[in-house]
Amino acid sequence: MKILVTGGLGYIGSHTVVELLNIGHEVVVIDNLSNSKPKVKDIVEDITGRKFDFYECDIRDREGLDKVLDAHKVDCCIHFAGLKAVGESVREPLKYYENNIAGTVNLLKALSAHNCKNIIFSSSATVYGDPAEIPITEECPKGQCTNPYGWSKSMLEQILSDTRNADKEWNVVLLRYFNPIGAHPSGRMGEDPNGIPNNLMPYITQVAIGKREKLGVFGNDYDTPDGTGVRDYIHVVDLAKGHIKALDAISKNCGLEVYNLGTGRGYSVLEVVQNFEKASGVKIPYEIMPRRAGDIATCYSDPAKAEEKLGWKAEFGIFEMCRDSWNWQSKNPNGYE
Ligand code: NAD
Ligand code: UFG
Repeated sequence: MKILVTGGLGYIGSHTVVELLNIGHEVVVIDNLSNSKPKVKDIVEDITGRKFDFYECDIRDREGLDKVLDAHKVDCCIHFAGLKAVGESVREPLKYYENNIAGTVNLLKALSAHNCKNIIFSSSATVYGDPAEIPITEECPKGQCTNPYGWSKSMLEQILSDTRNADKEWNVVLLRYFNPIGAHPSGRMGEDPNGIPNNLMPYITQVAIGKREKLGVFGNDYDTPDGTGVRDYIHVVDLAKGHIKALDAISKNCGLEVYNLGTGRGYSVLEVVQNFEKASGVKIPYEIMPRRAGDIATCYSDPAKAEEKLGWKAEFGIFEMCRDSWNWQSKNPNGYE
């Protein structure tokens, strides 16, 4: 199949492009490079031994999208492009709604006009808010999001569902990612955050490499076994493979489907630190800090639906996630710079 990948030079997108090329799909990537580097294209091509087309294009640019879609008859779109910094979204909500929501509406109109009505969307466990049940199944009601980024995902799920309801030619797969970490086992691709990392694993790896003095642990008084927040970390390569399975579902005209992509196992912040130390051999100094606004105690998935219906199951455990995050960071202390 020929797949349009938006945001395909970003962290999850680039790992997914590797998996798509590895099994013989043709890939067309668009990315506005707001949070990625052009050299990722060369690295992906080097790792896979295959070429793909890349356009520096913004999903809000209808003319640009039309040019790409005129040049390539694509069968499906995997839509990663979006802004994702939770704190920034609180400070600049309109930037997030414009980029993520207006951008996606624009993309859907362009796809529809070119008769591509198949889309896989990067959603997030954040749509569950403070979840009503643990582990979280897809039946769990969506909740109150604590920031505009989260709302943009929740609203986009609604927009995509409404689009499919109005026109049954659409096939829409909403993938709710839990916490992606890890990197390509080659150590040549990984997460490369700008500035001070917001997320746990990139912060830990930057402490390990000596860029930051110590990790701040945001709260140790949650109702969890050791008091620190519990999350469902998932290896980015497993996550990428989930998109391949979603593509199989799309090619069988699945209609509208929603899947959690997680491992089903939660780890606390301190357990992640311990596993990272074991995998890397590097000690991570940390300090207990106040809770971070908007955080919840526990979030982990019930991934049974994806296993049953897509035949997808995460293969890597926390040790491999830590090992590969460290492999990437230690081989590339300054990321893609
Ligand atoms: P990322 O920032 O590494 O990748 C997103 C890519 O989209 C970047 O390359 C960026 O340059 C591009 N982009 C952003 N806005 C664009 C626009 N208007 N037009 C074209 N390109 C644009 O992020 P990621 O971690 O790879 O996340 C991919 C998707 O998955 C995002 O939609 C994100 O919200 C979602 N998601 C991520 C996580 C996570 O923890 N990483 C969790 C749940 C969901
Ligand atoms: N944490 C720390 N110190 C840090 C960073 C994080 O203690 O420096 C803790 C948090 O308090 C939380 C856990 O580590 O308990 C994980 O935090 P992350 O920021 O890595 O991840 P979140 O679960 O808060 O959120 C992430 C993404 C969201 C996404 C969500 C679910 O940032 O965008 O996963 O997919 F919606």
